Amino acid sequence: MAGKQKITGPAFFVGMEGNGIISFGSGQPDLPPPKEIFRNLENPRLFKYGLIQGDKRLREALAEEYPGAEAKNFVITNGASEALDLVMRALAQEPGSHNILLCQPYYYSYPLIAEFAGLSSIYTQLKEGLIDLDDFQKKIGKVKAVLINSPSNPTGRVEAMETLKAIEALTKKLGVWVISDEVYKDLIYGRENYLIKGRHVITINSFSKTYAMCGLRVGYLYSPDREFIQKVVDMKVHTSMNTNSMGQAMALSAMRAPRSYVKKQVAIWERRRDLIYGGLIKLGFDLWKPEGAFYVFPKIKNVERALGELYYKYKVIVYDGAWFGAPGRIRLSYALDEKKIEEGLRRIKKFLKGKEKWLI
Ligand SMILES: Cc1ncc(COP(=O)(O)O)c(C=O)c1O
Repeated sequence: MAGKQKITGPAFFVGMEGNGIISFGSGQPDLPPPKEIFRNLENPRLFKYGLIQGDKRLREALAEEYPGAEAKNFVITNGASEALDLVMRALAQEPGSHNILLCQPYYYSYPLIAEFAGLSSIYTQLKEGLIDLDDFQKKIGKVKAVLINSPSNPTGRVEAMETLKAIEALTKKLGVWVISDEVYKDLIYGRENYLIKGRHVITINSFSKTYAMCGLRVGYLYSPDREFIQKVVDMKVHTSMNTNSMGQAMALSAMRAPRSYVKKQVAIWERRRDLIYGGLIKLGFDLWKPEGAFYVFPKIKNVERALGELYYKYKVIVYDGAWFGAPGRIRLSYALDEKKIEEGLRRIKKFLKGKEKWLI
């Protein structure tokens, strides 16, 4: 669009709000965090440096959630983002292949974090948004690590338990590390999940999504391998130091809040999922029905033009599927209230007038 700033990538939109904008952009829950976290605000201890590995009480609380785990198996990080970065940099120092297997479409940061760490990404193409075990098996022999993200950003799909168990066994047999990004593990609608386990598995999670605490930047990694944990801590001391102390105390309060908090959130996400999925289907879009997380990933032609027009003319933010390795799609986050979703759908309907062919 002439005279307008070019939309170059997600950084253009992250954190943008107000001015009548409807943002289906970043995956930022609009719901409030558990009220219990605000108790920490006036604690002066929380303005000091803390342990590089992370607050011990928070790690102890996390250890209770993982069978056989101890506090020493965790590192608390500045969001899952820092955990991904530390893990990939630590793995890059391990002997052997420098390849990492990513599922495509992928969360947009994965290829770049891998590249910054000195790893080369190779890709297995998802089939209907899910892992194709035949293709996966062909590629897994060539890599040091594989990254699994179920429920997935951007597809919203959840892998079958059998697939995850097969991956767990195959990678164990081949001596391939698994990075399991489980930031959406609590946000699944009516279906069982399976969390990959083992000494070769590094689990990554975050307080950003489950507890609506994105800006506090608290996540963690868990590994049964103590040597690996030490490697990560030895790097973290020279980069970000400890994770935000206030955020960690708030994360602990969030974990201790009544479990009904998470249950209520999931019910809300599910209603919103139905609203946006139904609305987009009615408008003629082709998309998968999300089983988890809070994203839809419909097909559309002329994505660059669509993004520009939706944003500059209709004040609607959507993300380009190409950023996730899937040109010809757009990603919409439904982490916003129902009235806004409805208004966003109305604007998309107006935008689509005369462009029905873009959906075929
Ligand atoms: C799959 C996935 N992993 C990691 C992250 C990063 O989360 P955090 O806010 O904890 O850094 C996100 C954020 O959207 C995500 O979708």
